Amino acid sequence: MSSIDYSQKIPNNVDLASDKRLQRALEAWQPSYIEWWNSMGPTDFNTKEIYLRTAVSVDASGWANFGFVKMPEYRWGIFLEPQQQGRKIGFGDHMGEDAWQQVPGEYRNWLRRLIVTQGDTEPASVEQQRLLGHTAPSLYDLRNLFQVNVEEGRHLWAMVYLLHTYFGRDGREEAEELLQRRSGNPDHPRILSTFNEPCEDWLSFLCFTMFTDRDGKFQLLTLAESGFDPLARTCRFMLTEEAHHMFVGQTGVGRVIERTCQVMKEHPGQDVKQYGAIPMEIIQRYINFWSASSTDLFGAEVSSNSANFFGAGLKGRAYEDRQEEHTALNQEYALTRFTDGKLVDENVALRNAMNEVLRDEYVKDNLKGIDYWNRVCERYENPYRFSLPHRRFNRKIGDYAAGRFDLEGNLIDERTWLANADKWLPTAADKQYVKSLMVPCYKPGKIAGWIAPPPKGVDNQAEDFEYVRL
Ligand SMILES: [Fe+2]
Ligand SMILES: [Fe+2]
Repeated sequence: MSSIDYSQKIPNNVDLASDKRLQRALEAWQPSYIEWWNSMGPTDFNTKEIYLRTAVSVDASGWANFGFVKMPEYRWGIFLEPQQQGRKIGFGDHMGEDAWQQVPGEYRNWLRRLIVTQGDTEPASVEQQRLLGHTAPSLYDLRNLFQVNVEEGRHLWAMVYLLHTYFGRDGREEAEELLQRRSGNPDHPRILSTFNEPCEDWLSFLCFTMFTDRDGKFQLLTLAESGFDPLARTCRFMLTEEAHHMFVGQTGVGRVIERTCQVMKEHPGQDVKQYGAIPMEIIQRYINFWSASSTDLFGAEVSSNSANFFGAGLKGRAYEDRQEEHTALNQEYALTRFTDGKLVDENVALRNAMNEVLRDEYVKDNLKGIDYWNRVCERYENPYRFSLPHRRFNRKIGDYAAGRFDLEGNLIDERTWLANADKWLPTAADKQYVKSLMVPCYKPGKIAGWIAPPPKGVDNQAEDFEYVRL
């Protein structure tokens, strides 16, 4: 068991105390982080006690210890999975060589870019969600929001640790920059577009944790394979935390659907809006928007960067160990490309299609969530069925960004797009309606009218448990 040293200013299981220079650098970054948290983190709840889980060790028994904590006092720390003796690189051109414990010089820039891009998403999501605490549908949901927020903060720490430890001065500069970019700021935005989208209501938040945090899961899975061992070990532990974020999204949207099912059953044939529920069609449009935007995060279909990262052994495939062959050389991937206004089937070198390979896994995982939501409908004998938009729908990055595609992925012209966009994507009226429902419900055990209560409390707490002491 590698337990975490809480006697230190920065809790860690990496023996930070033995490296005074690094410890000083991180302790110098810590106040900037707290300042960022206080100005850009969740507003107005920093003095409240919240029932949060904190990791006390990275093994199964220790990483979810629950207790009341004020968020600025959360023990953000540095936790890596234990080193496996003799670990080898599992893919790419260095397959079978010893995993790197230091940054290989020839890959320094690529590796730094991968770490910075991952790191940037973590504070970005906290910024996007900073006002949501004012309108949570219950104390249970409020607590979940804050749990996600503090863990995204910890994920930032995880990446900053790597930057400080392995990248010297430019790593420290990147760590500073991570606290300076701002989600949605036109002059100094976050790196990836989804992380600049406003996330102003709870249906957006639940879709975000379902679809955008799931992109995070798959990126982490690829980095967990990395030949750069400290990155792999860091990401493996982050994945345990990420699972909860997706749980919040999948079950959360499920509870919104459940509430709508209940209202439809009680008042057949009537507009559910009269009863403060969210119509299925609006939920579907939110799903369409957030899933398409998050699908963009995997990058272009054909990408020389993705080939480079794979060949170098920096970024693998998700579940690389399930693959039969690990060099991905002399193999092809069948892709439908969009060039000169036409969809054309084409075989591309597998290494160049690594973004698409990962997107395949992502789509599969999303479909499981859609099935889960449809089972909610079935339980209520509601005929509505949700679907995942085709990966070509509403893309801003890659081949398909150059055209218009319907929800099934068919190529359509601009006129057809304009005639249907309001059916497919949230309208101003949808957003306004959803916003009108966003009133806080902070009595223990009570819940807002647009979402069903959770089937089970956090850490098996009773239904009326006071998760946040206001
Ligand atoms: Fe994260
Ligand atoms: Fe997350």
